[in-house]
Amino acid sequence: MDVFVVEGGRRLDGSIRIFGAKNAALPLMTAALLTDQPVTFRDVPRLDDVDNMMRLLAELGCHRVNEADGPSGKIVLHAGDRTRSHARYDIVRTMRASISVLGPMLARRGEARVSMPGGCTIGDRPVDLHLRGLRALGADIQLAHGDIIARAPGGRLKGARLFLGGTFGPTVLGTANILCAATLARGETVIESAACEPEIVDLAALLTRMGAKIEGAGSPRIIVQGVESLGGAEHTVMPDRIEAGTFMCAAAITNGDIVLENCPADALMCVMDRLEAVGVRFEVTGNDPLRARCRVTSSRVLQPVEVTTQPHPGFPTDLQAQLMALLTLADGNSVITEKIFPDRFLHVAELARMGARLHRQGATVVISGVRRLVGAPVMASDLRASAGLVLAGLAAEGTTIVNRVYHIDRGYEQFETRLASLGARIVRRDEKDVQ
Ligand code: EPU
Repeated sequence: MDVFVVEGGRRLDGSIRIFGAKNAALPLMTAALLTDQPVTFRDVPRLDDVDNMMRLLAELGCHRVNEADGPSGKIVLHAGDRTRSHARYDIVRTMRASISVLGPMLARRGEARVSMPGGCTIGDRPVDLHLRGLRALGADIQLAHGDIIARAPGGRLKGARLFLGGTFGPTVLGTANILCAATLARGETVIESAACEPEIVDLAALLTRMGAKIEGAGSPRIIVQGVESLGGAEHTVMPDRIEAGTFMCAAAITNGDIVLENCPADALMCVMDRLEAVGVRFEVTGNDPLRARCRVTSSRVLQPVEVTTQPHPGFPTDLQAQLMALLTLADGNSVITEKIFPDRFLHVAELARMGARLHRQGATVVISGVRRLVGAPVMASDLRASAGLVLAGLAAEGTTIVNRVYHIDRGYEQFETRLASLGARIVRRDEKDVQ
C-alpha cells in the first residue's frame, strides 16, 4: 500500500489547473445509459472512482469506445444492446456513487437491479430518498438478497410531483437519479426540494443537450417534461470545486501564493467567504466565473471562524476536514458543525496526533488554534479526511506519513505531483519502504 511522505514547512507558490469534478463526472457518465447514441465527455478526471464507474457501466452494456487523450481526458461511452441490468455488489461496494445507475437504467430499460450500498466510513448513507422518488414515478421496488429490484410497470415511468427532502436536507445523487429517470418518463415531473449543487446543474446541461426538457436545475424545484428518447451529445465536465477548495486551503495553511486556473469560483462563494474571514485573499479574473483564474494568498495570522456545513450554496461537507486542518493553526477558537454527515470526523483524532487541540461534542468540533503542528504518522479511512491530513502535514514541523493513500487516489488526480509542482515536499512511497 502506498503512503505519502510529507516534509512540512514549504510555502506553496505557482500555478495549477483544476481538473474535471469527480462528483460531476460519476452521475454524468451514467447518463450514457439513457441513449443508444454515443456520449462524449471531456475533462474526465483520471481517478479510481471513474475507473470503477467505467467498469460498472461496461458490465451494464455501456462501453468506452475511445482511448484517453491527455492527462484529463476524453471518454466516449456507448450503451449498446443491453447485456445485463444488474449492478453487482462487488462493484457497488467499492463506490457508493454506483447507485446513480438505478434511475437511468430503470428509465430506459424499464428494469434495474442494483446491489444496495452499505454504510461507509462517513456515516450511514441510506438510499431511502432515491427509492421514494422512483416509487413516486410509478416504479415497483422490492428488496431481495441485498439488491434493489426495480421495475417500471408497462416498461415506462410516469411523471409525478414529488418531494425529495430528508432529515439532512436534499440528496445530491438522489436528485441526479430522479432527474435522469424523469427525462424519459411519460408526462411532467416536479422535483421539490431538489439538491441545488452545481454538479446537478452540470448533469441537467448534459441531459438537455441529449434532448431532455428540464427547467429549474440549480434551484430547489426542478421541472422535467418527459420525452420519448434521448440522443448523443458532447459535454465538458465542470471543474472540481472541492479540489479547488482543497488547494485554496493548501495555499492558506502554507502562507502561500498560488494561482488556480479553470477554477469554479462561482460554485465556491461560501467557501471563499469563510476563507476570507480566516484571512485568505482571492483575486478572481476571467470571463467565465465557472472557469476563472483565481489567485490565492494568505495573511500570516489566521483568524478563527465558525462554520456549519450545509447543502449548496452553504459550506460543503466535502471541505470540512481541509478547513479544520487550516483552523488548527488559527489564532483563537474556531467551531465547525457538521450538518450533512454528523459523524464525518475521522480526521479529528489524527489531527490531534499532530498536536492540534480539538474537542468534539456530537456533530460539533471546537478547534483551539495552536502555534505549530508536529509531523506524525497518520491515517484516515475517508477521502476528504485524508486530504485534510496532507494539508496539516504541509504546515507541520518535520515529517508526516499519510497512510492509505488509496483513499486520496479515489478523488484527487495526481495530488502529490501537483502539490510538489507548487513547491511542497511530498512523495509517494510503498509503505514497506518507510519506517
Ligand atoms: N440521505 C438520506 N437518504 C437518502 C440519501 C441521502 O437520508 O436516500 C442523507 C445522507 O445520509 C446525508 C444527506 O442526506 O445526511 C446528504 O446526502 P447526499 O445524498 O446528498 O450524498 P450523496 O449524494 O450520496 C454526494 C457526494 C458526496 C458528498 C455529498 C454531500 C458524490 C459521488 N458524492 O453524496 O461526496 O459528501 O453528496 O454533498 O457526488 C466525496 O466526494 O468525498 C463525497 C462523499
